[in-house]
Amino acid sequence: MTSSVNDLVLVAGATGGVGQLVVSKLLEKGLGVRILTRNLAKSQNMFDDRVEIAVGDIRDATTLTTAMLNVTHIISCTGTSAFPSNRWEFDPSPNWIEWVQLLIDPQLRESRAKNSPQKVDADGVSNLVAAAPLNLQRFVLLSSCGVTRKKEPPLNILNSFGVLDAKQKGEEAVINSGLPYTIIRPGRLIDGPYTSYDINTLIKAKTDGKFDVTIAQGDKLAGDSSRIDVAAACVECIFLPGTVKQSYELISKGTRPSVIDWEKLFSQPTTV
Ligand SMILES: NC(=O)c1ccc[n+]([C@@H]2O[C@H](COP(=O)([O-])OP(=O)(O)OC[C@H]3O[C@@H](n4cnc5c(N)ncnc54)[C@H](OP(=O)(O)O)[C@@H]3O)[C@@H](O)[C@H]2O)c1
Repeated sequence: MTSSVNDLVLVAGATGGVGQLVVSKLLEKGLGVRILTRNLAKSQNMFDDRVEIAVGDIRDATTLTTAMLNVTHIISCTGTSAFPSNRWEFDPSPNWIEWVQLLIDPQLRESRAKNSPQKVDADGVSNLVAAAPLNLQRFVLLSSCGVTRKKEPPLNILNSFGVLDAKQKGEEAVINSGLPYTIIRPGRLIDGPYTSYDINTLIKAKTDGKFDVTIAQGDKLAGDSSRIDVAAACVECIFLPGTVKQSYELISKGTRPSVIDWEKLFSQPTTV
């Protein structure tokens, strides 16, 4: 055990699908939780006074200082949609003709999008890293399978608007920070809370708790990943010193055993 009840974990992106489950797992383990949120009312409603709340936006470094006070660990589950959507917060809001222009013109798109992958997954994560206390015990970053093989189909389609490029920049910021980090790379997220804009959310795809967890390294895995297990991995790794300075891919497949042995999964990643 490297963590104790005296620890205070800052969860960024706590209102998101994985983020909500991360908070719940941390509370279940008796750890102190502070969430970083852009929306105080939404978070108060969601977490019902069970967590400390810091209002901040990872795009604005000046809003992150207070949130970092006494924080021992950071788990970042922030993200935006992979494809242009309202989550990119275009300013001003485009009409349909402008939507077409935005889709074909990358410079126009980036100048109008206030919450694009570049601004959240690259710049925002870099701000979070820069604001982290120097004595931080762990920075856990939720990234994505495929960041190192973006040219392979179908990942090239997923990366059409730069989400994997941005996630890789975020990973680099974490890796180059000198902080003890762990990067968790899920595949296509499955199981609720259904918060993202994609097909698994549309069809409410779920695992029914039937699938085992596969963890690998080297960015070769592909498939679906249960948000429940992804969130558990983000929390369990902070108790395992061997996961420091490591990146792991996580996929849900195979028949689930009665107990998930996280220590074994992280110490003996599957060879793909
Ligand atoms: N969907 C997939 O299949 C898939 C696959 C691989 C990896 N991933 C990645 O896995 C992660 C978790 O996915 P998810 O579906 O749980 O995400 P999600 O529900 O979309 O949640 C995203 C979170 O990021 C927060 N956020 C967005 N912009 C922010 C900003 N500027 N400052 C602070 N917080 C901000 C949101 O807060 P608000 O409530 O304020 O909006 C929300 O809490 C994401 O990084 C996603 O890219 C997803």
